[in-house]
Amino acid sequence: MVSVKTTTSTLLGVGHDIADIADIEAQLAEPGTRFGELFSSRERRQARRKAEAKADLEGRHLAACWAGKECVVKAWTEALGEAAFPLSLDEFEWKKIEILSNSKGCPAVVLSSDYAAILRSSVSIDVADTSTRLEWKISLTHSRSLASGVALLSREEVLSI
Ligand SMILES: CC(C)(COP(=O)(O)OP(=O)(O)OC[C@H]1O[C@@H](n2cnc3c(N)ncnc32)[C@H](O)[C@@H]1OP(=O)(O)O)[C@@H](O)C(=O)NCCC(=O)NCCS
Repeated sequence: MVSVKTTTSTLLGVGHDIADIADIEAQLAEPGTRFGELFSSRERRQARRKAEAKADLEGRHLAACWAGKECVVKAWTEALGEAAFPLSLDEFEWKKIEILSNSKGCPAVVLSSDYAAILRSSVSIDVADTSTRLEWKISLTHSRSLASGVALLSREEVLSI
């Protein structure tokens, strides 16, 4: 008998967020602020490069990145159903949810390995289950004053039929 592999996809959560660019720029410029530490060094570097290339401000790209992080948390929260979020506000590390663009400019969600493991267990996927993976899709935009993002989290299962 021939075994055929097929993939099923189940949408677990969707998140949307909007960030005020002037607010983000003000927070970054505040003396002694630690706001910039919420972004990874890769995110900061990417925002600087985008600002140089487009002759605008780093804050605009970081605002989109911030909206991206928040919409990821919202999609993750929806995926949990009634369960509590697995990390408390105090222990939550925003830089472990990175929003990074590829060479074509498309953003992607990159979770640190520990957050990827926490996410999998929070949606009840066994560590040993190699046929199930979680997939993020994200889209960002910004205007003169606002940045916004939408994220989708889905569960992809490879089935042999
Ligand atoms: C989830 C989070 C990003 C929401 O950010 P926020 O600034 O409050 O949300 P916004 O102002 O962008 O949007 C508000 C709307 O988002 C939705 N929303 C609020 N919290 C949400 C969540 N956790 N998941 C999904 N959607 C949420 C609601 O519709 C809300 O509208 P309402 O206030 O009229 O009910 C924020 O709570 C956060 O930063 N959490 C950190 C991680 C965390 O929560 N850890 C666990 C703590 S126990």
